[in-house]
Amino acid sequence: MKYSKSCHPLYSKKWADMNIEQLANSGALQIKLYVPGKSKKEVERELKLTETVKMASNENPFSASEQAKEAIIAALDEIHMYPNPTSLELREALTGIQAVSKDEITVGNGSDGVIYNLGMAVINQGDEVLIPKITFPVYETITRVMRGRPIFTRMRDLRIDLEDIIRHIGEKTKAIFLCNPNNPTGDILSKDEILAFLKETPPSMFPSSRRVRVWLPCPIRNLLRER
Ligand SMILES: Cc1ncc(COP(=O)(O)O)c(C=O)c1O
Repeated sequence: MKYSKSCHPLYSKKWADMNIEQLANSGALQIKLYVPGKSKKEVERELKLTETVKMASNENPFSASEQAKEAIIAALDEIHMYPNPTSLELREALTGIQAVSKDEITVGNGSDGVIYNLGMAVINQGDEVLIPKITFPVYETITRVMRGRPIFTRMRDLRIDLEDIIRHIGEKTKAIFLCNPNNPTGDILSKDEILAFLKETPPSMFPSSRRVRVWLPCPIRNLLRER
């Protein structure tokens, strides 16, 4: 049977009349537009240059290693199959490097992917998430998409102000994003500064359940042991 648009059972005039602002995730609408840097090719074409080196972004001007290229070529025979969705082999291989169990390692599509997964796993609507005012923008993005409430903490001379973060920890604080070294300021928090910060942070911020230990990157976990 053929339906005309308006008598299709799934057709609702309510949806059809909505504009994109009404349809979209309200958190996503608050995200600032990400403006990517120009590619090396674009710059060379625009400025009529031939030999440029791109200094921004995590790109390697020296190309990928030969080993990585060989591994990619070897994997071509398997690209018609889904990879193991839990990245089991990779997690097992990484186990030796950081002396953690495979269940304590999460794998994502780049570190952006890990940050998005983390946000989806823990941020609820209304949760407060502490984010330094000048830092990597993805922290704010995932917080807003999950309808969390970003609380922006102060910078001190372009450094993350850990004391201001401590001041803002409250009942509703679900997560704190600390980028180290910080992008885009390039500033580094020392081990001693992080250790002092962890000592000041209420224990409730560090649930000890095995399921959530995955939040903490290995170096931070090691610092917690010293705490
Ligand atoms: C602090 C930070 N986190 C995550 C990323 C994203 O990295 P990836 O390419 O691994 O997704 C970047 C990229 O610049 C970054 O600076």
